[in-house]
Amino acid sequence: MKYVLGIDLGTSGTKTVLFQQDGVAVCSSTVEYPMSQPQNGWAEQDPKDWWNAAVSTVKTVLTKSGVDAKDVVSLGISGQMHGLVMLDENGEVLRPSIIWCDQRTQAECDEITEKVGYDNLIRITANPALTGFTLSKIMWVRKHQPEIYAKCRHILLPKDYVRYMLTGDYATEVSDASGMQLLDVPNRCWSDELLQILDIDKSMLAKVYESCEVTGHVSEAAAALTGLTAETLVVGGAGDNAAAAVGTGVVEDGKAFTTIGTSGVVFAHTDKLSIDPQGRVHTFCCAVPGAWHVMGVTQAAGLSLKWFRDNFCAAEKETAAAMGVDTYELTNQEAAKSPIGANKLIYAPYLMGERTPHLDADCRGIFFGLSAMHQRRDLLRAVMEGVTYSLNDCLGVLAGMGVAPEQMLACGGGGKSPLWRQMLADVFNCPVATTVNTEGPALGVAILAGVGAGLYPSVQEACRAMIHVNEPQNPIAENVPQYAKVYEVFKKIYPANKEVFKDLAAL
Ligand code: XUL
Repeated sequence: MKYVLGIDLGTSGTKTVLFQQDGVAVCSSTVEYPMSQPQNGWAEQDPKDWWNAAVSTVKTVLTKSGVDAKDVVSLGISGQMHGLVMLDENGEVLRPSIIWCDQRTQAECDEITEKVGYDNLIRITANPALTGFTLSKIMWVRKHQPEIYAKCRHILLPKDYVRYMLTGDYATEVSDASGMQLLDVPNRCWSDELLQILDIDKSMLAKVYESCEVTGHVSEAAAALTGLTAETLVVGGAGDNAAAAVGTGVVEDGKAFTTIGTSGVVFAHTDKLSIDPQGRVHTFCCAVPGAWHVMGVTQAAGLSLKWFRDNFCAAEKETAAAMGVDTYELTNQEAAKSPIGANKLIYAPYLMGERTPHLDADCRGIFFGLSAMHQRRDLLRAVMEGVTYSLNDCLGVLAGMGVAPEQMLACGGGGKSPLWRQMLADVFNCPVATTVNTEGPALGVAILAGVGAGLYPSVQEACRAMIHVNEPQNPIAENVPQYAKVYEVFKKIYPANKEVFKDLAAL
């Protein structure tokens, strides 16, 4: 039996899963790490935490499973997208990584749009300048920390930093590189035109591969640290959403998934390049060679519930610990006691600004309609519903581009909740299913690793053989119009506050 390894570098932690070559998960290990917010709207993490988590989780799955490292033929890494890792000439980290949900770079985005031109930017990168993307973060460091920029010789994405530590290679792949805003997305290579206009040295960027191509192998030093052998191949891997697509079998036209992780994403595969001229959803290269995907992003999806849990659910946390269950099981039970519409309480999930459909770094979260009659259960339900309405905003933009999935797959931590899945089914008015194997991004990159090592002929064929879908949850007919009424009010909250958010940001 041969084995493949998937390392998923998320925002709340890194999860590593060892799979048999037929996709059966053998052993999994997760290590969490913090996100620091030095200012309102900023978000940073320490790349060393990611590396330590990768080493420790790989070591754990090898030791616990008892699998001989020689049989682990290849591995893939999936990662939170867009984060900026800067290294000096010796490959040492120069500053904490500014990660995807950081919102400090609106001025740099304005500068990019002015210098490159809106239409040109869309033509080359398939997206407008966004605070979340890597390019504006690079320009922020150049402007505000010139001494660091002067020492920078290598720019990497989070998962590609872990690859560098594992292999010594400076490499990336098309799906994650698409989110840097330096890739020519239609042609799947760095854009010399953009680099020249913005005066960024191409030698700082990593070599670009397709997601299932082999980029190198584990170094002797990393083998000694992790327990892997130096023969283990490392493939391109993928950004977390492109990896989740492979892990849920969304690798052909007509297929779509919704993930509720720290961020929330509604994602559809497309064999033909398709771009929203208003830039409300992203178009990126996907992990299937020669294809793309379109996706809408809710910045704070699972993050909204985690924020609420961490600040206001101490009692549930304590009870859950005593019962040996997950706190979210209890928060779900609490939320289910509140009716649809949470007794006229609506939550807008803009804790970290918003992308789809508002593209606004300055907006922030709102509980709209708080009353003395509300209890914590109403707030919990409102948070879950608000995230669902925001995901419905994403689906609405995709629908306008012709995406009409017959069924939505749900994944990520939030996708594990039957209550949240039913909300998705009722609000999207579409059946929502899960896959039998729920390892999502980790399975996705393990499949890519298997394709790279020649265990499977193609990503699609591997998915057809390995991904199985459970019976869907169907929309409940009487719920659909009830949610639709609340959604109509939700949609008015952002426009009504658009200007006030600016005033708040300027305080
Ligand atoms: C996608 C995005 C997030 C991160 C973190 O554009 O920013 O989904 O990848 O999960």
